[in-house]
Amino acid sequence: MTDLASVDYFSDGEVAQNPFRYFDHLRDRNPVFREPHHGVVVVTGYQEVVEAFKNTDALSAVNSIGGPFPPLPFVPEGDDITAQIEAHRHEFPIFEHIVTMDPPDHTKARALLGRLLTPKRLKENEEYLWTLADQQLDEFIGNGRCEFLGEYAKPFATLAIADLLGVPEEDRDEFRQALGADARPGTRVGALDHEPVGINPLDYLDERFSGYLTERRREPRGDILSGLASATYPDGSTPSLLEVVRPATFLFAAGQETVTKLLSSALRVLGERPEYQQILREDRTLIRSFTEESLRFDSPTKVDFRLARKTTTIGDLDVPAGTVVMLSLAAANRDPRKFDDPNEFRFDRRNAHDHIAFGRGLHTCAGAPLARIEGHITLNRLLDRMSDIRICETEHGPTTDRRYSYEPTFLLRGLTELHIEFTPTR
Ligand code: HEM
Repeated sequence: MTDLASVDYFSDGEVAQNPFRYFDHLRDRNPVFREPHHGVVVVTGYQEVVEAFKNTDALSAVNSIGGPFPPLPFVPEGDDITAQIEAHRHEFPIFEHIVTMDPPDHTKARALLGRLLTPKRLKENEEYLWTLADQQLDEFIGNGRCEFLGEYAKPFATLAIADLLGVPEEDRDEFRQALGADARPGTRVGALDHEPVGINPLDYLDERFSGYLTERRREPRGDILSGLASATYPDGSTPSLLEVVRPATFLFAAGQETVTKLLSSALRVLGERPEYQQILREDRTLIRSFTEESLRFDSPTKVDFRLARKTTTIGDLDVPAGTVVMLSLAAANRDPRKFDDPNEFRFDRRNAHDHIAFGRGLHTCAGAPLARIEGHITLNRLLDRMSDIRICETEHGPTTDRRYSYEPTFLLRGLTELHIEFTPTR
């Protein structure tokens, strides 16, 4: 039998489909374990992951998305490689975005983000989301069936952020198509006159937002984009145009795929467990804990990375400067030392809220309140407008032998498709 610890997490297809057995195996060996293929230190214990997130002195976020890929652009020297990281920072993937920044740049970027995501803006956005949920459902509810990711979750998550940032109504359809969130007949990704999306949707967004914000800086209109255009740092200084554009565009990257994954994994459980539909329909306050348990059980971001900039220890393992560290949120959220029977979905779990699906520490997800609201509103409206929600057996097989396919990535966990059937109620 293959020793699971010898499997290459980054390329093994089976582990991508079901990472939990692999994570459990590693945690049993040691919650902080150096894997043999890339020398990555994999952290699977809850306590150890939390401790590492807090150790920002020794662990840099510069590689938070790519981990060991591409390999470090330098050969680490000594017990403190801070200067080497700074000299090569611009060679790391998405170095210009907040999630890879370290203080003091991260502190500034986060403060600016706080000015974009104000409680007032989130509240107004929430009101819009109820309407948006119904608009999405109207597109297919009469069919009694749907492919939930394409027909609901992706467009919903994309348009939620478009509204949050004040993208004008007349441009929203274009955003939806450009960001691959349009499954309506007659549309296709990039099917626009000027083919806006090349390889990198972030470039498309950067260009769009640069246009909006340049216009608003020249001629403020009292709309949300004008608010963004005039946002200042806490010390009163004005950020460059790109410094405002980048956080705005990054919200799409951070919030579209992850929310789609949360919504579809929650609905999969509802489809598998009809008794939950009744319980939640009768007591809507339970939708909150159901959402938290979904985040714990199938954490959309499986792993985050850090780079040891100083020699340090995590758990009982010495970690030399230059080591790539993989903090597994999905594994931490199923650590039996923290959660009883962690591989069971229990929406009345007392401590489900302690999950770390949104990370911890400096880089804790800035969109967590929005993601939660999107979950609550979606579940409420699905339960209002559908009864007898079932997993489609033609697509996913009978109850006794289900076939689900997950995206083959090492970073995120999410279904590629979710076909459901239901009885429309209104
Ligand atoms: C279920 C949905 C989501 C999950 C599971 C999730 C997960 C995460 C995680 C784990 C991080 C920390 C990354 C790290 O420490 O390296 C993060 C950061 C971030 N997330 Fe989310 N996220 C979700 C939705 C959203 C949404 C809807 C938005 C925005 C609208 C968003 C915006 C951000 C931003 C801006 C950061 C970077 C924060 C920083 O570096 O200071 N996320 N997210």
